[in-house]
This record gives sequence, structure tokens and C-alpha cells, in this order.
Amino acid sequence: MAPRRIDARELPAGSALARRLAQIEKVARAVTLEHDGTPVEARAGEPVALSLAAAGRLTLARSPKYHRPRGAACLRGDCDGCLVRAGDQPGVMACRLAADSGMKLTSQNAFPTAGFDVFAVTDWFFPKHLDHHRLMVDFGDAVNRTMQVFARRMAGSGTLPELPTGVVPHRTRDVDVLVVGAGRAGLAAVETLAREGLSALLVDEEPAPGGAQRDRVDLAPERPTVSVDAMFDATAAATYANETLVVQHGAITRVTCRARLFATGTRDVIPAFARNDLPGVVTARAFARALTWGVLLGERVVIVGPAATGARVNEVLRALGVKTVYAPDGEVVEAHGATAVRKVTVREKGATAEHRCDVLVCADEPVPAYELAGQAGAGLAWDHDRRCFAPRSDDEGATERDGVYVAGTVRRRMSDEQRSDDGVRVARRIARDLRGSR
Ligand code: FES
Repeated sequence: MAPRRIDARELPAGSALARRLAQIEKVARAVTLEHDGTPVEARAGEPVALSLAAAGRLTLARSPKYHRPRGAACLRGDCDGCLVRAGDQPGVMACRLAADSGMKLTSQNAFPTAGFDVFAVTDWFFPKHLDHHRLMVDFGDAVNRTMQVFARRMAGSGTLPELPTGVVPHRTRDVDVLVVGAGRAGLAAVETLAREGLSALLVDEEPAPGGAQRDRVDLAPERPTVSVDAMFDATAAATYANETLVVQHGAITRVTCRARLFATGTRDVIPAFARNDLPGVVTARAFARALTWGVLLGERVVIVGPAATGARVNEVLRALGVKTVYAPDGEVVEAHGATAVRKVTVREKGATAEHRCDVLVCADEPVPAYELAGQAGAGLAWDHDRRCFAPRSDDEGATERDGVYVAGTVRRRMSDEQRSDDGVRVARRIARDLRGSR
């Protein structure tokens, strides 16, 4: 069965998700966009990847080499399953693009479309894989050169726009503290920094504050107020030598500061198993995010993994009357399907079983989003609780690099309340350190 839209009346009255959907329905404005020449009905402002999913368009891209089908797996800019050409801009993440009327989206690196790509034969022709480093080298220079041109046309991620986009606008900002991440820890930190008399700039790549709370199907909608200077829909793309590059709506801001605080939280993962790249294989948070926008990604759902998001999603699906298999202690062995997941093999408690499905929800424990902190010079240490690496910090979030701090779940597992407390604690430490360095 295909994905579909759900409305508040299908859910238990007064439930958190019903209230969220009722709020969306109240302000929803219908728009029409175009995907590969076909009109698609959407709601203004929702992620385009969800507009397309709700219209049954799950295969949005093709892998660069073998042209295998790809779909939106994370809905938060962490995978490359949703890359499309938007207007003449290649490589745009459809999960980060807000739907608007008249948008023209096209598949990249596929012919005629990502849904049906004749170049997918590449995958059949090279069952033992394609060695692109030595492709055709034994056939002589002329053939080799032709093949390189052919390989370049076949592979990659879209083509450049016809015309240069012009000079990228650029400005600079200087603040005492740059805080990346507007979840509970980051929000608590900027409030505390302001009380301590320090100037702070808050940056987050989501369009609104709230962090992981925004994807919680069990929490009523809330929009925390931010009383400090903030940039949303803005990506801290790189950080080096006290300068951080922030990209927002195609413009660049170079932020210099005395201290950098990374409250970047965690990201969901899709574990390693055979065919884990099929459209319809999604993270638990992606599935939950789709629900909060009123999109049900499938009617036969298998949820595997111990993360709390999986249990919450399962509860909502039961309330909607959707058939689920929930295996919190399970492990996916293999996903099956030609262009989208249709069946999964799951091992649980020593037994292996196959389940038919149209969505596989991977509810593994999220891992710390430590990349920026690492780039800024924080060392990493093994987190035994979560069985992954996390930035090394002392009790107050200071890392081994002067002026670099971490707060919230990027540094360890924390409850909602602990995140806020941690933001306050780390901000006070920063204030103390900065006063001492004057
Ligand atoms: S990057 Fe868009 S769905 Fe993962």
C-alpha cells in the first residue's frame, strides 16, 4: 500500500499528535509543485520529500555509480537519498526544502526519471562490481578516453546550472559565544549566557527551535521562544581557528567568537544489513517526523530496534489501526524488494523470521552528532553506554581544546530535564572561563 496523508480525526481525540495535526490543518495552504513533469499536490511549508512521499513518490534519486534506487531515509539532511534538482540547482535535499507553489523538481543522474531509470542496467552488467579506477584501461587509450567521458556522464550527482549563480553574499559577525544547536541544551545555554551578560548567537539547521522535541509524536506542539540572536534554517558548515562558517539561504556568515558551544544532539542511524539502501527503509525519527507533518509513510510497518522513538511510533500506528511488527530486541538481517522495501528478514531471540512490509523503521540508539566539535579540536572517547564515540569533555562540558564546549546528548545519554540542566551548567562554565581570560 502507498503512503498517505492522515488527519487529526483518525487519532485518539486530544492526543499530542492529534493536536499537532489539527494545528497544521488549520493553517494548511494547498500548493502544486512539479516532479519530473507531473503535478504533485502539497501543503505549503512542509518538507518537499514528504509532499512527494504522500503522492506515492518514494524513489527520489539514484546512487551515483550503480543507479540503485534511493529514497528519503532520515528527513534531516543526514543521508543523500532525497537529492533532486530544484529549478536549475543540482543536489538539493528535498527533505530540507519547504514546499511552495510552482516549484519544479527533477530527478538527477537518471533517465527518464529516478522512479524508472534505464541506466539501472549498470547494476546488472557489473554483478562483481565496477572498478572505476581501472575502467577499460586494457582496451587502449582511445577507448579508455571514451569510456571516461561515458562514465562521467553516467555517474555523479546532477549537472551544474547553465549560468553561474553570481557572487555569494557574505557578511561577518562577532560574538562572545557561538551556540550550535537549538534543542533543550542549546536553548538553556543561550538564556544563561544572556543572563551572564555575554553576547551569543544561536544557530540551528531546522526552521524553528526545539531540536529533537520537534519530532516527538508524544508531545504536544510547542514553539519555544528564543530571546537571543538566532539563525534558523542555517547550517554551521565548518569551524576552524575560532571562525565558523554558517550558510543560510545561500548566504554565508563568518562568525568569530571567544567560545564555541556545540549542542548538536544526536542522529539516527541505519545499521549495516543487506539492501539497507532501499527506498522505504527509514530511521525512527524520520518516520516520526513524517507523522508530525500528517504523512503516514506506509500501511505495513516493521519496527526494529530498542530506541524509544520506535516504541512511540508503534503506539501511534496501533492507534491508527496500522499493522505493525515491533521487534525492539531484533536485528535486521536483510531487506528485500526491487525498487522499494517489500519484505524484511529479522533475527530476534535466536529465531529468524520474514515479514512483509512497505516500510522498515530502524529504531537503533541514536549516535552523537560530534563532527563539528571534532573539527573544532575536541577529542573523542568511547561511550560505553551508547557503544559509539562521543566528544571527550569534563563535567562542565569543557573539551581539551580551549574555548570549545559541548552540552546535551552529544556528550552522553540524557533525559529531557538533564539536557536543560546541562545547557545551564556548561553556559555558566563558559561565562566563568571567559571572565577569567579577560
Ligand atoms: S538527506 Fe534528505 S532524507 Fe536524508
